[in-house]
Amino acid sequence: MSNQPRADLISPDTHGPRTHTCGALRPDDVDASVVVKGWVDTRRDLGGLMFVDVRDRYGLTQVVFSPQANEEAYAAAQQLRSEDVISVRGSVQERSGGINEELATGAVEVLASDLCVLNTSETPPFVVSAHEERGKDANEALRLKHRYLDLRRPQLQRTLALRHRFYQTTRRYFDQNEFLEVETPVLMKSTPEGARDFLVPSRLHPGRFYALPQSPQTYKQLLMVGGLDRYVQIVKCFRDEDFRADRQPEFTQIDVEMSFATEEQVYALTEGLMAALWRDLKETALETPFPRMTYDEALRTYGTDKPDLRFDLKLHDVSDAFANCGFRVFEGIIADGGAVVALCVPGGAERGRGAMDRLEDHVTQEIGAAGLIYFKHTGEGIDQNISTNALPAEYVREALAATGAEPGDLVLTLAGDVPTVYQQAGQLRLHMAAQEGLIPEAGTGDDAFVWVTDFPLMEYNEDAERYVSLHHPFTAPRADEVDQIADDPTAVTARAYDLVLNGNEIGGGSIRIHNRAVQQRVFDALGIDRAEAEDRFGFLLDALRYGAPPHGGIAFGVDRLVMLLAGVSSLRDVIAFPKTQSGQELMAGSPDWVDPQQLRDLFLTLDLPADVEPPADRTRSQLAS
Ligand code: AMO
Repeated sequence: MSNQPRADLISPDTHGPRTHTCGALRPDDVDASVVVKGWVDTRRDLGGLMFVDVRDRYGLTQVVFSPQANEEAYAAAQQLRSEDVISVRGSVQERSGGINEELATGAVEVLASDLCVLNTSETPPFVVSAHEERGKDANEALRLKHRYLDLRRPQLQRTLALRHRFYQTTRRYFDQNEFLEVETPVLMKSTPEGARDFLVPSRLHPGRFYALPQSPQTYKQLLMVGGLDRYVQIVKCFRDEDFRADRQPEFTQIDVEMSFATEEQVYALTEGLMAALWRDLKETALETPFPRMTYDEALRTYGTDKPDLRFDLKLHDVSDAFANCGFRVFEGIIADGGAVVALCVPGGAERGRGAMDRLEDHVTQEIGAAGLIYFKHTGEGIDQNISTNALPAEYVREALAATGAEPGDLVLTLAGDVPTVYQQAGQLRLHMAAQEGLIPEAGTGDDAFVWVTDFPLMEYNEDAERYVSLHHPFTAPRADEVDQIADDPTAVTARAYDLVLNGNEIGGGSIRIHNRAVQQRVFDALGIDRAEAEDRFGFLLDALRYGAPPHGGIAFGVDRLVMLLAGVSSLRDVIAFPKTQSGQELMAGSPDWVDPQQLRDLFLTLDLPADVEPPADRTRSQLAS
C-alpha cells in the first residue's frame, strides 16, 4: 500500500502562497489565519484528532486535523504519509498538550481548516525527519544515493546554511581589504601541487588535454604580474589523489595572492579573516596573533607538521640518555643517526598487561614501528618490558627525567630513523590522546590555531629518486640560502607557512619566487630540465622577465574550515553532493561509462585492465576501437 503512488490524493493548490514558513509561528500569531506548506515529517493519529508535523528548511509546525474543523480534510490527513508535500490552511491556536520547548514554534499549532496534497511520496529508503534521533543510523551509501532526501535533514541544512554565511563573511572581509575577486580558468594547463591531474580531452585538438586546476597557483601569480595587486577567489580545485578522510577529489579553496607582501602581512590578513569567521559564525572572540612553530619544532615535539595543540603530550628525544646504554638496538640506531623518542602519558602506569599488549600490537601493526619499549614509573621503581640487564636502570632514570615523568606515569619509546621515528611517535601521541580522552569531540572545546613555518624547500623522495617541493616549485627560498639550492635543497628554508587548526591543515601558502634565475635554479634542483621547464612553465618564466613584483599568498581549505566550524567530523557533511572514499558520486552515478561515439569524437580508445568488466552492452573490443 505504502509504495503505491497514491496519485489520486494530489489536488490543485487552492491556498495561494504560504503566509508563514514552518519555522515562523509564535504565540503572537494566535487566531491568525495562515497557510503553511512543507513536507509531512511525523504523523500521530490520536483517534479523533490527527497531529501532523509539517517541515521545511525553517522548522517544524504542528498541524491538527479534527473532524469537527473539516471532516474532508481530516479524512484526507489520514491518508498522509511521511514526505508527502502539503499545503494547510488554518488558524493558529495555543498548542494542545503543552508547550514543546525544543521547537521555536513549540507554543502554537495550526488547526487545519483545509488540506491540499501537493505531491505524494513513496516510502523513503530511510527515515527522513527533523526529529534527529529518528533514522540517524541509516547507512551512508544509501543516504548518498538519495542525497536529495538526506539534504532535508536539519543537520545538513544547518551546515549548508553555515557554509553560506562563511562565504558572505569571507567576501565581505576581502572586499573591505581591497581584494578583487577574479575567476581563473577551469580548463587549463597542468599546475603541479603534488597530486595527479584530472584530465579533459580536447576534441578540437586531437590528442591534447586540458587539466583541471589542482589550484589556480600559476594564474594567481600571473595576476600579480598583471598588476591586480590583491586577488581572492572562492574556487573549486581538483586533485586525483589517494583518498583520506580529510580529502575530497574536488574541494573548495579561498585562494589569495598579494603583491609586495611579507609573511607578516599574510599572517595578519589570515588572522583577521579567522577572527571575522569565528565572530560571525561562532560568536567567539579569537585570540590573535596565533602561536607559531617551526616545521622542525613541530616534527620533533609533535611528530607532525600539523600538530594538535589542544592537548600536551609532547615528544622528547631521549637519544642522549641512551647513547651508551648498552642496549644494542638503541645504541645502533643512535649511532646510525636515528633517534629514540619518548612520550610520557601522565597516570598511564596503571595500564595492565593486556592493555600494554594491545598497545604493542597497535604500534607494530598500525603505526609500523619496529617495537615498543615502555617504562612504568610506579613510585617504588620502574617496570619495563625489557630486562634491566639489557637496559640498566641508570639510563632509564635519566631518560625518564628528560620526559618529566612522575610516579604513576607511563613512558613509551620508539626508536628508528629520523624523521620516520618522529612521525610514528606523532601517531602514537594521537592514539594515546584518544585513549586518554584528551581529544575534545568535534564541535566542543577550545580551538587551537598554530602557524607552522620554516619548512625545508625540498625533501628527497626515495620512490621517485629525486627532490620534490614540500609546497610547490614556485615557493621562494630564504634569500640568504639561495646559493645552497644546488648543493643541498633539503637544507634550504622555504618562505612557506601552513595554518593548522586542531591538528588539521586548513591553509598553506608562501612568498613566491619573482626572479627568473631563482626559479630556474629551483627547477634545476627538482630535476626539471630546461626544455621541460620551458614546455610546462614557459608562460610563467616569460612573465617573470617583465617586471614581476614580489608577491605571496595563501589558500584555505573551505570544506575543512566549515567542517571544523560546524563541529561535524566528515567533509561529506558540509558538501551538498560529496564523493565517497572511492571518488564516486553515488546519486547520479559518476564516474560513468560514456557512449563509444563520444570517445571516437575525442579520438580516444580504452585499453581496460583485465580485471575491469566493460559495461553490459559493450564488448572490450568495441571500447578499444
Ligand atoms: P595546498 O595544496 O596546501 O596549497 O592547499 C590549500 C588548502 O586546501 C585544502 N586542501 C584540501 N581540502 C580537501 N580535500 C583536498 N583534497 C584538499 N587538498 C588541499 C587544505 C590545504 O591547506 N596553491 C597552494 C596555495 C598557495 O601556495 O597559496 C595550494 O593549493 O586545507
